[in-house]
Amino acid sequence: MDVRPFWLAGSPARGEAELTVTNPHDGRVVGIASVPDPDQAEQAVAAAHAVRKEAAALPIHVRAEALAHVSRRLSERAEEIARLISAENGKPIFWARGEVGRAISTFRFAAEETRRFSGEVQRLDTEPAAAGRLAYVSRQPHGPVLAITPFNFPLNLVAHKVAPAIAVGAPVVVKPAPATPLSSLLLGELLAETDLPAGMFSVLPVPNDRAAALVEDPRLPVVSFTGSGPVGYAIKEQVPQKHVTLELGGNAAAVVLADADLDWAAGRIALFSNYQAGQSCIAVQRVIVDESVLDAFTPKLLAAVDALVVGDPADDKTQVGPLVSEQAAERVEQWIAEAVEAGARVLAGGDRDGATVAPTVLAGVPASAKVICEEIFGPVLVIQPVASADEAFAAVNDSKYGLQAGVFTRDLGLAFRAGKELEVGGVIIGDVPSYRADQMPYGGIKESGVGREGLRSAMEDFTYEKVMVLTGLTL
Ligand code: SIN
Repeated sequence: MDVRPFWLAGSPARGEAELTVTNPHDGRVVGIASVPDPDQAEQAVAAAHAVRKEAAALPIHVRAEALAHVSRRLSERAEEIARLISAENGKPIFWARGEVGRAISTFRFAAEETRRFSGEVQRLDTEPAAAGRLAYVSRQPHGPVLAITPFNFPLNLVAHKVAPAIAVGAPVVVKPAPATPLSSLLLGELLAETDLPAGMFSVLPVPNDRAAALVEDPRLPVVSFTGSGPVGYAIKEQVPQKHVTLELGGNAAAVVLADADLDWAAGRIALFSNYQAGQSCIAVQRVIVDESVLDAFTPKLLAAVDALVVGDPADDKTQVGPLVSEQAAERVEQWIAEAVEAGARVLAGGDRDGATVAPTVLAGVPASAKVICEEIFGPVLVIQPVASADEAFAAVNDSKYGLQAGVFTRDLGLAFRAGKELEVGGVIIGDVPSYRADQMPYGGIKESGVGREGLRSAMEDFTYEKVMVLTGLTL
């Protein structure tokens, strides 16, 4: 099998070490990635630093055309890329195709946003002392971005850092998750087809224990990290002087209120507590149900969970595949066992076969169990009955996390209350918390992170406002 090169300052390169990537479903080798030596990683950082001024000065049409090119090429190679994502990550091909479709949009939105990213003009003659004065407020890149990306969306969560960086004229160095480097290496191939200057991007599949050196490097003033809380907060502590964006975890809740469409809610919650085997920060982990509809809702939910097709991720019909590794599945199994020991009832699933955990529904779980309070990142759903909307909102907020929440209601007043009172970065009315449109602001509060992604938001995050005041003007 060919060893895939990594991308050093826009060119393919090979190091001495190799990383073998296997399919979590059957253990077969999917690909081998070449791993940069430390001096090659150094060259990539030096190149990003060296090109930063040229990058910031790149005409908008050059940035926009590069981004549009990547979007087009993703579209042309969509099926091949979806197969690669599915093979390296284990996510069913159905979801992998969805991820490629989203990445096509992510790059397209970035191409569109960069054309609109012109800053603003403010008249200052609001006060007599500032007659004839005007401010031009532009946004300037902080500088090269270190993008540390997770395994659960090995293409689109890389796109969410690379595309806005290019859009604002910032070089980007990607450190992909060791389990799933191949999709980002393929993205590197598409970026290498553009006219972006050398140094504008590198993709370095280095092991996690070499990430600290990159984080520490002052030539990479922005760190954009998606992954676990402990690693994210360690980064923030390691480099308090840097601009650090953290997209961390959650224990997302879906609220089913008394007036909800129960069939719709049951189907959506069953699917989105199990999509990608629950390995999304916004997969439904808790379903908070008004007790007046609990008896009607629960059988619908269990029927929808039972109807999910579990199996080979390469099969078009599969909805739930393996977790990223057997070790990850064992941890999920352990948390289920702990909950059961503490008194939980297993209404569905609960078993593990290798890296696959059966879609699991638990009830009667004590509030202190990990399956409620921590991010499970597995196909496990906990039912929590409540007596009222007030109790439901309090239950959502009874969490150290605050990423997104879903509220199934048709009552506009309650919808607005949820939008106001729920302590999360996003409230989805009439659907699961797992809904994300790639152009909208996305990110958490509390221990779910700091900063926002979504093209416009990430472009703001990677830049600072700069004011130029013009004087003596006729306004
Ligand atoms: C995440 O897991 O945080 C990303 C979810 C998404 O992009 O849909």
